[in-house]
Amino acid sequence: TERTFSIIKPDATRRNLTGKVNAVIEDAGLRIVAQKRIRMSRDQAEKFYEVHKERPFFGELVDFMISEPVVVQVLEGENAVARYREVMGATNPAQAADGTIRKLYAESVGENSVHGSDSLDNAEIEIAQFFTDAEIVG
Ligand code: GTP
Ligand code: MG
Repeated sequence: TERTFSIIKPDATRRNLTGKVNAVIEDAGLRIVAQKRIRMSRDQAEKFYEVHKERPFFGELVDFMISEPVVVQVLEGENAVARYREVMGATNPAQAADGTIRKLYAESVGENSVHGSDSLDNAEIEIAQFFTDAEIVG
């Protein structure tokens, strides 16, 4: 079994969708083994999205992620990284498959409700940015 890192983004927390997103996650067979609601600092958001820092939307993305609280999570299950990417749906909600979180709830490519790690290596790095080992209860 694997672990992946998830963020319920400000557009979703603002609309009180934390529970609905979690229901999709749990129905998909993923277990939420750590979770907390935080307000990301600008430093945290810039570091988290460092790979995108040359992209034209970087400033907008960071501003969005710190605009309101987010819920950070660790999800556990078989093939958790790929499984969660599947459950999230395409980055652009207009292209997301039926039943995915982004199809159900996301508003735009920028405000797309959730983040999920794109590889096992990144999952480990991202989890360590927000959780200590003691906070993860499998
Ligand atoms: P994450 O799970 O959030 O990493 O999404 P992703 O892996 O599906 O997409 P990617 O890593 O390519 O982009 C990271 C995030 O940048 C996306 O989830 C969007 O929130 C944001 N993003 C990507 N493209 C655009 C864009 O054209 N405009 C804006 N405003 N944001 C974008
Ligand atoms: Mg990504």
